[in-house]
Amino acid sequence: MAMVRQDHNMGGTMLTEHISEVERQYYYMEQCHSWIKTQEEKLGRPLTASVITFGCQMNARDSEKLTGILEKIGYTIIESEKADFVIYNTCTVRENANLRVYGRLGQMKHIKKNNPGMMIALCGCMMQEPEVVEKLKKSYRHVDVIFGTHNIFKFAELIYRRITEGQMIIDIWKDTDQIVEDLPNDRKYPFKTGINIMFGCNNFCSYCIVPYVRGRERSRSPKDIIEEVKELSEKGYKEITLLGQNVNSYLRTEKEKNISFEEYEGVNSFATLLRAINKIEGIERIRFVSPHPKDFTDDVIEAIRDCEKVCKLIHLPLQSGSTQVLKVMNRKYTKEQYLNLVEKMKKNIPNLTLSTDIIVGFPGETEEDFEDTLDVVKKVKFEQVFMFIYSRRVGTPGDKMENQVPEEIKHKRFDRLKALVESQIAERNKEYVGTIQKILIEGKSKNNDEMLTGRTDSNKVVIIQGNDDLIGKVLSVEIVSEHMWYLKGKTEKE
Ligand code: SAH
Ligand code: SF4
Ligand code: F3S
Repeated sequence: MAMVRQDHNMGGTMLTEHISEVERQYYYMEQCHSWIKTQEEKLGRPLTASVITFGCQMNARDSEKLTGILEKIGYTIIESEKADFVIYNTCTVRENANLRVYGRLGQMKHIKKNNPGMMIALCGCMMQEPEVVEKLKKSYRHVDVIFGTHNIFKFAELIYRRITEGQMIIDIWKDTDQIVEDLPNDRKYPFKTGINIMFGCNNFCSYCIVPYVRGRERSRSPKDIIEEVKELSEKGYKEITLLGQNVNSYLRTEKEKNISFEEYEGVNSFATLLRAINKIEGIERIRFVSPHPKDFTDDVIEAIRDCEKVCKLIHLPLQSGSTQVLKVMNRKYTKEQYLNLVEKMKKNIPNLTLSTDIIVGFPGETEEDFEDTLDVVKKVKFEQVFMFIYSRRVGTPGDKMENQVPEEIKHKRFDRLKALVESQIAERNKEYVGTIQKILIEGKSKNNDEMLTGRTDSNKVVIIQGNDDLIGKVLSVEIVSEHMWYLKGKTEKE
C-alpha cells in the first residue's frame, strides 16, 4: 500500500513509503481541509456536519472519533440533519434499530434534493451486513460514503475519495487486528467519558449479531489505556467508563493465543487494570460495561471491593433466568450459577447494586422459562433493567431455530416483566429518600432550566437546584423525594 507522509520541508504534502497509518490519515484530513476552504469561499458560508448515533456506548465513542475528524477537516458541527455532511453511525442489534436508519435515509432523499452539494455517509454495525450494503447500493443511491466498524480511522481518506472520485465510496472490512489510535476525537462532555479497552466479541451468544459485525476480541495495550486515563484526568475528567463487549475478558484472548503484550504498571488482566486506574489522581469514578457473568472471577470481585473509585453499581447481563434457555443462548452459566455469583458479589462488596439486560421471547422460551426470569428479577432486585423483546437477526443461530415465540406472547411477557421491574424500582426509590448521595452534576435538567441533573454512584438520576458552575462537580446531596425515573435532592447549603 502506498504510504503518505507530511513533509513540511517540501512546503507541502507528498506521498512516500513507510509512514504510519496515523500520518497517512492526517494527510487526508489536510487535503479535505483545503477542499472545504474552497467550498466555503464559493458559498460564502461555513460548511456544517452532523453525526447521528444509534446503538450502544461503543458506537457513541466511535462517533466522538468521527466528530473529531470532521472538526479537524474544517466542518462546523451542528445537531441538525440539514447539514452539508450527515453521517449515521448505525446499530443492528435489533431489527427496529435497522428500520429507523432506513426511515431516516428515506427522508434524507428529499432534503438532499434541495441541497445537491450535501454528502451522506453511513457507518457502524449495520454496514457489516452484506445484505444491507446490497440494499443501499440498489435503492439508496443518494448515499455518498459507506464504511464499517473496523476502519473508522479511514474516515478522512474516504471523504477525500468521494470528493475526488465523485461516486459512491464503499469500504467495508470483514475483520481487523489493527487498533489505530491518536487521531482527533471530540469528547461529548468535559467531565465524563468512555474509554475503549477492548474491541469485538468472541462469545457468539446465539441471539446476537455483535460478534459478526464487530469482529474478534482484541485488547488495547495497558500502556495506551493508562496513559489515556492520565491525560483525561489532567484535563479535568472525573468519571470514566471502560468500554468493551466483554470487559472482564480483557487481555484473555491475547494470553490464550500467546500474543505478546507489554505489561504496564502491573496490568495483565481486567482486575489489575481496575486497580491501576483506581490509583490515577483526579479520576473520581470508574464504571465499566459490559462484563460477562461467566468471566466474573474472584480477582475482579476483590478489585471492585478494594477500589474506592469503582462505582458499586455493576451491570451484570442476565438475558434469561432459565437454565434451559441460557444453554441454547450459549451464555455458559445456569440460573443457579448466576444467583450464586450475585450472592458472592453482594457478600463481598458493601453497598453493591446491580443492573442487567434481559431478553424476552427467545426461541423455545416456555411460560416456565419466563417465570424463571421473573424469579431471578424478584430475587436480585436490580437497580435498573434494560428489557428487550427478542429480535431475529439474520446469520445468527437463533434466527434459524424453528420454535420462535409468537409476537403476541413476546409482547405480553414483556409487559409482565416491565410491570414487575417498575414496581421494584418504585420500592427501591423510596429507600433513597433521606439518604445522602454523592452525585456528579452533568448539566441542566431537560425539563426545567433552573434545575441541574446529576447521577449517583448507582446511576440514578438526581435533580437539584443550582448554578451552572456546579456542572462537572461531584457533590453530596440529600435525597428529599422520589419519582419513577428520577430523585430530587438538595445540597447541604439549601
Ligand atoms: N456485550 C454486551 C452487550 C451486547 S448488546 C453484553 O453481552 O451484555 C446489548 C444487549 O442487547 C444485550 O445484552 C442483549 O440483552 C440485547 N440483545 C442482543 N441481541 C438481541 C436480539 N437479537 N434481540 C433482542 N435483544 C438483543
Ligand atoms: Fe453479544 Fe453475547 Fe458478545 Fe454480548 S457477549 S456482544 S450479547 S455475543
Ligand atoms: Fe448496536 Fe453495534 Fe453496539 S450492533 S449495540 S452499535 S456493537
